[in-house]
Amino acid sequence: MTILKRVVVYIAVISCIFGIPGAVLPASMQPVETGPLTLSEFLLETELTFEEYHAMMRERAESERYPHFLAANSQRYKAFQVLNPDMPFGKVIALVNVNADIGFYVNIESVRDPYEVSALVNKNFALPSGWMPSDFVNIGGGHRLREEAAEHFSKMRTAVADAGLRLQVISTFRSYQTQAGTHSRGVARHGLASADRQFARPGHSEHQMGLALDILHRSGFQFMTQARFQYTREFAWLTENAHTFGFILRYPEQYRHIHGYIFEPWHWRFVGVEVATAMHYEGILLFEEFYGRYLAPEVLGQVRQELLRASRQSRFPWF
Ligand code: DAL
Ligand code: ZN
Repeated sequence: MTILKRVVVYIAVISCIFGIPGAVLPASMQPVETGPLTLSEFLLETELTFEEYHAMMRERAESERYPHFLAANSQRYKAFQVLNPDMPFGKVIALVNVNADIGFYVNIESVRDPYEVSALVNKNFALPSGWMPSDFVNIGGGHRLREEAAEHFSKMRTAVADAGLRLQVISTFRSYQTQAGTHSRGVARHGLASADRQFARPGHSEHQMGLALDILHRSGFQFMTQARFQYTREFAWLTENAHTFGFILRYPEQYRHIHGYIFEPWHWRFVGVEVATAMHYEGILLFEEFYGRYLAPEVLGQVRQELLRASRQSRFPWF
């Protein structure tokens, strides 16, 4: 076991009893600020698996504290809690961590690494203009996905067929330019507010990541077919099983005010098997919430710093 791994055990156990280790260190002994990290960078540096990291964070959260609390956001947490008095504070923190308190398409941030499979792309986090992935795989019908997503979708499609069901792929990768055309046609037809509820603005669509799929039980993309998809056996199967292939429902009905779109039962996003599975078993339906708890670069940077601090000050003989 590496030092950092052993520190995880230490943090999980000791922090339940005494609070976050290192919090009482004199300023001169505080480690250097490490800054934000992507999930891949974090896992590489700490040598933790995602499951180990997730279990550690869950354990800390269960001891009534908030490991994803970022001091810089504390005033915003308070203000968002006032607006949402019934929301658990852990969720308030998670949503503010992804800027859910500041409105759509304002203070837009750039995605740290567009290749990160669990990156957040939404109305407040944008891909670089014109960016497209370079590891496409053709999945038939002229549709393309990034390699890892394509491999997992292929396995999922086989499992769906084995269950006697059928999925039709409607849309996968869409370039920045295609998305710009889709959005502006929507604006011309329905007006900006309505178009914004149906189509991402260019640079803000998961379809540009090559990780999103629109799938239905039969071909065609008429409104009736789209809306009816939620009542099909295919949709029920996906709800039960898609996480085992790394896919999540991205725009659930009950969180329209947070993700900003109409309910899209057809839009499934590849986030990786570990993240999708953790979301499923933790019962978190909204990716923004999961991201704000576990994946935001500022949270990962802070956790890494705590681990480092704990490993440096460790006086336990078994380390
Ligand atoms: N319809 C989804 C939100 C998109 O345009 O990416
Ligand atoms: Zn879609």
